[in-house]
Amino acid sequence: MLVTSPIRLAGLFTAALLLLPLAASAPGPGPERSRQRCRYLPGDREWPSIQEWNKLNRTVGGRLIAGVPVGRTCYGPYANSVACAELQDTWGLVDNFLNDPVNVVSPYFENNTCDPFVSPEANALSLCQLGNLASYAINVSDASTVAAGLKFAKEKNIRLVIKNTGHDYLGGSAGKGSLALWTHNLKEITFIQNYTSRGYNGTAVKLGAGVQFFEVYKAASDRGLRVVGGSCPTVGATGGWRQAGGYGPLVSTHGLGADNALSYEVVTVDGRHLTASPQENSDLFWALSGGGAGNYAIVLSAIVKTHRDGPVAGSRLSFLNTNSTAFYSAVEAWMKHMLVLDTIPGFATETLVTDGAFALNLATHPGGNLSSMHAALSPFYTTLAQLNITPIVNNSAVQRGYLEHYAEYQTAVITRNLTVGGRFIPRALAHNNTLLSNLTSLFRSLLSEPDAAVYLHGLNVANKTPTPNYNAVTPAWRNNLFLINVIFLESDHAPWTTLRDNLARANVWQDRLRELDPTPLGGAYINEGTFDNVEWKADYFGGTYERLRVIKAKWDPNSLLYVRPGVGADEFVQRGDGRLCRV
Ligand SMILES: Cc1cc2nc3c(=O)[nH]c(=O)nc-3n(C[C@H](O)[C@H](O)[C@H](O)COP(=O)(O)OP(=O)(O)OC[C@H]3O[C@@H](n4cnc5c(N)ncnc54)[C@H](O)[C@@H]3O)c2cc1C
Ligand SMILES: *[C@@H]1O[C@H](CO)[C@@H](O)[C@H](O)[C@H]1NC(C)=O
Ligand SMILES: *[C@@H]1O[C@H](CO)[C@@H](O)[C@H](O)[C@H]1NC(C)=O
Ligand SMILES: *[C@@H]1O[C@H](CO)[C@@H](O)[C@H](O)[C@H]1NC(C)=O
Ligand SMILES: *[C@@H]1O[C@H](CO)[C@@H](O)[C@H](O)[C@H]1NC(C)=O
Ligand SMILES: *[C@@H]1O[C@H](CO)[C@@H](O)[C@H](O)[C@H]1NC(C)=O
Ligand SMILES: *[C@@H]1O[C@H](CO)[C@@H](O)[C@H](O)[C@H]1NC(C)=O
Ligand SMILES: *[C@@H]1O[C@H](CO)[C@@H](O)[C@H](O)[C@H]1NC(C)=O
Ligand SMILES: *[C@@H]1O[C@H](CO)[C@@H](O)[C@H](O)[C@H]1NC(C)=O
Ligand SMILES: *[C@@H]1O[C@H](CO)[C@@H](O)[C@H](O)[C@H]1NC(C)=O
Ligand SMILES: *[C@@H]1O[C@H](CO)[C@@H](O)[C@H](O)[C@H]1NC(C)=O
Ligand SMILES: *[C@@H]1O[C@H](CO)[C@@H](O)[C@H](O)[C@H]1NC(C)=O
Repeated sequence: MLVTSPIRLAGLFTAALLLLPLAASAPGPGPERSRQRCRYLPGDREWPSIQEWNKLNRTVGGRLIAGVPVGRTCYGPYANSVACAELQDTWGLVDNFLNDPVNVVSPYFENNTCDPFVSPEANALSLCQLGNLASYAINVSDASTVAAGLKFAKEKNIRLVIKNTGHDYLGGSAGKGSLALWTHNLKEITFIQNYTSRGYNGTAVKLGAGVQFFEVYKAASDRGLRVVGGSCPTVGATGGWRQAGGYGPLVSTHGLGADNALSYEVVTVDGRHLTASPQENSDLFWALSGGGAGNYAIVLSAIVKTHRDGPVAGSRLSFLNTNSTAFYSAVEAWMKHMLVLDTIPGFATETLVTDGAFALNLATHPGGNLSSMHAALSPFYTTLAQLNITPIVNNSAVQRGYLEHYAEYQTAVITRNLTVGGRFIPRALAHNNTLLSNLTSLFRSLLSEPDAAVYLHGLNVANKTPTPNYNAVTPAWRNNLFLINVIFLESDHAPWTTLRDNLARANVWQDRLRELDPTPLGGAYINEGTFDNVEWKADYFGGTYERLRVIKAKWDPNSLLYVRPGVGADEFVQRGDGRLCRV
């Protein structure tokens, strides 16, 4: 059974349709002006000519790349049966999309464009379209290539996107007819022995915008250091992850990604090459650290804290649902036990629950040892024994450093064929036993739906900033006992209707979680929420929205940067054909 939300979908259509009569009948601006309310698309008379693109290419030293869908290897003269079969086999994984200038991970936004599951008879090249993917990308090497791209997009009135790894569930690194600033090749990693500032003196590392966590985890470990990074090794260290908050196993010890930022090297939309830090352009620094991805300036690099590495205790545990009453009692007991784990400094957990199984994939305790890990988890083991549940996997170990711990416990194959939504559960509310019991009932009904899963992130980032109000991270992050991801799994080659319905389901369950917690303490993590959440301002930004809107207006007054659901996104609408227009 699929839960869909016709009301929400109807609302989207209405918004798109209403715009046409309004734009046409508005007095004042003539047809030319009103056309400029929208970004031009390929095929428009105003779309830049080949000569103009070639000129841009010369300006950026030959670094302009025409976008090509990865699926082209299955089409027309480009068809290569071996490469195409390999692409089909790995279509559910993130890997094909990460190192490409325009292709993105999200199946919803990729939307089966240039579908590799094509029959040999139907592989005409005309069927291999770019869809929502950028038309061109600049292989960014420095500030001047970024500035040239910004100037071109502004002058030609075309959409601009920033593409790093393309992990974005919200589609921010894609956009029909856009010019992409592709940051992937900015791979600098430079360690700084003694970073000195008013706020922090200590070790740090400068990370180019293209650096990914697997790279910096290793480089730091080689120097006896560690950095706060994502649970996923391939996410970018300095793109959407850090700019929207950024969590991972170490955040309970050292704070979120945004909390670890010391300064950014940026290009502003008017082409200036600046530093943003608590001392310089401090409003921009504040917004770039947690105020949402890709919306204030283009980051070329960031300087972030490093921390001395040391032993990390870890654990994993899983059991099956062989008796639903006992199983869901255990799920509730785990959530109650998270109130205890929350009081252990540095403790972090990640737990997957489906109707079939419970898996504590990762418990991370920097500085812990086997006996402290045992002490932390044993009350829950006792509950399991009382419920007659026997773990099928149970292992704890202490590794010499974070990288070794990560390698031991982060073994999941990273897939992209899923839809995600979610919400934080505030600590204050979780102390109320009926809340966790009601939440368990809600999970039970959610997980009875096909292909549903929940992921619980037990992270404590309260009081983890150098100073109060250090950055724009939503207060809901500080208040939460755990973050819930609501997940719907999809086949590798799900049709558009399934992707659309699963997004609607994610919104429905997000709404139900909000009803369980109507207090302003709550909220959701923008990076793992839905792009069309109707309560996006309150859920994703809490009380920070108005200040961020002012900062956005100062640094990007004409909204050259657009990401939905970013600050200011409601001033635009994306029409059915993908065209981006001012409201
Ligand atoms: C498989 C998977 C695992 C994930 N695991 C985690 C996790 O463990 N922890 C977590 O917190 N999140 C996680 N996420 C969410 C992830 O943090 C976001 O998707 C994030 O936006 C990815 O950033 P990116 O730069 O790598 O990707 P992209 O999709 O390339 O970019 C994301 C956004 O950031 C903007 N952006 C990128 N680079 C820049 C730049 N240099 N300057 C300005 N704007 C920029 C883009 O415009 C876009 O809006 C995961 C996502 C996936 C798909
Ligand atoms: C840009 O110029 C380089 C070098 O001349 C060339 O290889 C590349 O194909 C050009 N890009 C586009 C989109 O034409
Ligand atoms: C995906 O494709 C369908 C049909 O091909 C279209 O109706 C829908 O608008 C597209 N969605 C996105 C996000 O591109
Ligand atoms: C992008 O530029 C880098 C050098 O900065 C180069 O190594 C790489 O091959 C280029 N990528 C593409 C696809 O042109
Ligand atoms: C780091 O710099 C500060 C301030 O300049 C100085 O007081 C301190 O001794 C330096 N530490 C090291 C290890 O060099
Ligand atoms: C760092 O060192 C500088 C110079 O010695 C000093 O002014 C500053 O207060 C120090 N900052 C911290 C957080 O100690
Ligand atoms: C299932 O678990 C419940 C709670 O522990 C218990 O009361 C019940 O007897 C169990 N049922 C079976 C069939 O084992
Ligand atoms: C284990 O860690 C705990 C606290 O985390 C500490 O009190 C204890 O002494 C440690 N035990 C050993 C054997 O190191
Ligand atoms: C966990 O595993 C250890 C050793 O592998 C074993 O001694 C212990 O009894 C197990 N605990 C539970 C609750 O299964
Ligand atoms: C728990 O929450 C409910 C609903 O808000 C409230 O009626 C009840 O008093 C709370 N219980 C405690 C112990 O706070
Ligand atoms: C849990 O649900 C019960 C029954 O609907 C309700 O009375 C109670 O207030 C709920 N608890 C919370 C914390 O909302
Ligand atoms: C998602 O993709 C992976 C990798 O291709 C595949 O193993 C898995 O079965 C897919 N999930 C579903 C629900 O089909």
